[in-house]
Amino acid sequence: MLAGCDMSQPARPIIIKFSHVVAPDTPKGKAAAYFKTLAEARTKGRVKVEIYPNSQLYKDKEEMEALQLGAVQMLAPSLAKFGPLGVKEFEVFDLPYIFPSKEVLRSVTEGPVGLGLLKKLEPKGIIGLAYWDNGFKIMSANRPLRTPDDFKGVKMRIQSSKVLDSQMRALGALPQVIAFSDVYQALRTGVVDGTENPPSNMYTQKMHEVQTFATLSNHGYLGYAVIVNKKFWDGLPPDIRTALESAMAEATKFANAIAQTENDEALAAMQASGKTEFYPLPPAEAEAWRKALLPVHGEMEQRVGKDLIQSISREAAKFGFSD
Ligand code: LMR
Repeated sequence: MLAGCDMSQPARPIIIKFSHVVAPDTPKGKAAAYFKTLAEARTKGRVKVEIYPNSQLYKDKEEMEALQLGAVQMLAPSLAKFGPLGVKEFEVFDLPYIFPSKEVLRSVTEGPVGLGLLKKLEPKGIIGLAYWDNGFKIMSANRPLRTPDDFKGVKMRIQSSKVLDSQMRALGALPQVIAFSDVYQALRTGVVDGTENPPSNMYTQKMHEVQTFATLSNHGYLGYAVIVNKKFWDGLPPDIRTALESAMAEATKFANAIAQTENDEALAAMQASGKTEFYPLPPAEAEAWRKALLPVHGEMEQRVGKDLIQSISREAAKFGFSD
């Protein structure tokens, strides 16, 4: 009997650890699960995707480091979390009212602007594969936040983005960066008074149980970039990489198709719970919010790049929106 390779033993699968911070029952959680199903089927089991939701493995900042070190292979952080990595241009997505519609957003993420941003990750040892939607954000707190004046002195949890810091300061609020996994406790114990998130995140983290008021402001966008460790990705057998690319393309379509419904359903469930009072900001009152928040574009132009802001305005103009 010859020693050595035993052909009866199947080759060990390639493991992709995909870590994220939200619940499985969210647009990102469901899209990650869908990617796993497709990836494993299309590689005929040669790839196994292990999903670690709810910050089980890493919190916001740590997961970026873990990806660069190769401790995990795939993440889908919110676009507001790339600043600490040194790619602050992604914070352009956080500018209040930068996207007048989902169509404009899509033409940015699927066009040269979005691609150009993903390319900026490569010197950091990261490849950007896709953009996944969550949705537009609402403001919540333990007090009503109906007018910009209501924000004076209110402690608001934010993601690590400097644009979001500037946004909260423009309203007179006191922003505080807190990891997503700690937000519920921070709200419950009064470390902060309020926060902003799309309804799907608010609901699945039970924030509505510790927030008495919310305003349906839709003042800003929250979405994700799906990213992989470059060394890992480049080292994959080409046929495997092609199969994973096609799984990702399909998972991306799925993510972007379900996100709005997921958010609508989460909002309806929170409304039905009666725990939070939701205020549907009328257009005339939304105008006061815009007036208070639009100066953030000018303030942050140095940080995210004037050209980038202008290129998004040009996309918006193609759809008939002007500044
Ligand atoms: C947050 O920290 O509020 C979000 O980025 C969480 C997420 O990944 O949706």
